[in-house]
Amino acid sequence: MASVVKINVLTVPPEMREELERRFAGRAGMVESSDGFEWFELLRPVDDSGRYLVYTRWRSEADFERWQSSQAFQEGHAKAAQGHGQGHGHGQGHGHGQGPASSAAELWAFEVVESAGPKQP
Ligand code: HEM
Repeated sequence: MASVVKINVLTVPPEMREELERRFAGRAGMVESSDGFEWFELLRPVDDSGRYLVYTRWRSEADFERWQSSQAFQEGHAKAAQGHGQGHGHGQGHGHGQGPASSAAELWAFEVVESAGPKQP
């Protein structure tokens, strides 16, 4: 069965980029132990879109859904979740304490059709 890719797209205001990266540097690291987890990358934009991609790859849709409803997910989002819902309005979340570092989040979902790595010698 094909793996699935789930990309959380975070829109991050310029003054919060450092804070976001700091949070990921200090992230819970629980996703690594979740069943069916295959890959994670935090991708920083090199243009001025302000959109960071949280790339994750899973063995199956069910494995991703299990992680999303797990305590591991909750703990991995302890700071991100504090005092907000998704897509909150302006004037919130731009402090450097708790609360979200992003001003919006959007989930992209894909199935892996083909993939390749370097040829082994
Ligand atoms: C409202 C939606 C979301 C926001 C604002 C958000 C933001 C964040 C932030 C700021 C962190 C760093 C840890 C922290 O500050 O607590 C984090 C961790 C993480 N996020 Fe999200 N996130 C959201 C939903 C999702 C979704 C749907 C995925 C699925 C691709 C995802 C994937 C991850 C992963 C893999 C980590 C690392 C967790 C670990 O190390 O165990 N996030 N997220």
